[in-house]
Amino acid sequence: MILQNNKEPLLDVQHLKKYFPVTGSLGRLGGIKGQVKAVNDVSFQLFAGETYGLVGESGSGKSTTGRTVLRLTESTDGKVFYNKQNIFELSKREMRSVRKDLQMVFQDPFSSLNPRIRIGHTIEEPLAIHSLADGNERRERVFEMLNKVGMQSEHYYRYPHEFSGGQRQRLGLARALIVNPKIVICDEPVSALDVSIQSQVINLLKQMQTELNLTYLFITHDISVVRHISDRIGVMYLGRLVEEAQTDSLFQSPLHPYTQALFSAVPGRGKNRERIVLKGEIPSPLNPPTGCVFHTRCPHAMEICKVNIPEKREMSPKHYVACHLY
Ligand SMILES: Nc1ncnc2c1ncn2[C@@H]1O[C@H](COP(=O)(O)OP(=O)(O)O)[C@@H](O)[C@H]1O
Ligand SMILES: [Mg+2]
Repeated sequence: MILQNNKEPLLDVQHLKKYFPVTGSLGRLGGIKGQVKAVNDVSFQLFAGETYGLVGESGSGKSTTGRTVLRLTESTDGKVFYNKQNIFELSKREMRSVRKDLQMVFQDPFSSLNPRIRIGHTIEEPLAIHSLADGNERRERVFEMLNKVGMQSEHYYRYPHEFSGGQRQRLGLARALIVNPKIVICDEPVSALDVSIQSQVINLLKQMQTELNLTYLFITHDISVVRHISDRIGVMYLGRLVEEAQTDSLFQSPLHPYTQALFSAVPGRGKNRERIVLKGEIPSPLNPPTGCVFHTRCPHAMEICKVNIPEKREMSPKHYVACHLY
């Protein structure tokens, strides 16, 4: 936990947009038929040492936000400031040194990797890419990192299939941390794990954060997980951030009707909180509703909600909501 008062943010995401073109049946030859507005004008800041949770239903644009910030996919619009530079304006070469500082951990980090490559080689690869150490030193650093994440040096020589899901997540973290990053974007890192294993991995993430002074953007659809790990939370719906607050404030008084519905679905929320069941499905981001994107499912929708996009307002210190009710 840290206090962020008036400190400069470590990462400053401003008006981020990512639209995916949708082509006809002939692919690009068929022409562009529309755009999936996966991320639509999202702004938030990460402060050194904190964990910022990004939560929302599947399809709300969380992963695309993470990937676009890291330029794993190019943005449609917006700016991301890191070290006073807009990283969207950096050349490929300039981007390489920034990329070392900004790492990503995925749900199943080894699913896409060659099953015949020893785990140690996978973990040390980023050191080679960033020319950070040579052969022997690389191996030493991997041994050290394996021990840090609760694994053993001899695991260096094993293959991905020899590890459980929880162990693989430890190894994925080792690969991300080997280059000494400043910020780690964790995209559903525990969502595929059993609950008991989830807390082990979350505890490891917290321990690494303190030890290595890391800042996390933690992406998840899981309310309990996001509550457990985050200092601050942003709630996403259909490509937009609808509410943002410190964790306690958000859970004590969720303001946006979407946040209220999302939280009401979590068991054990107390007797006086009735479950709010939203009507209908989350609309397609290909054709998002006008005005407030939530108005088609909102129990409190008014005429203005169909027309005007609500501005974000600060309702109590650091508690922001974008909703016409306020
Ligand atoms: N490469 C892509 N091409 C087209 N649409 C995409 C692509 N990646 C994601 N989308 C769409 O963008 C929206 C947001 O997806 P995503 O960021 O994965 O959401 P989340 O991580 O919150 O589940 C979804 O409607 C998804 O189908
Ligand atoms: Mg996702």
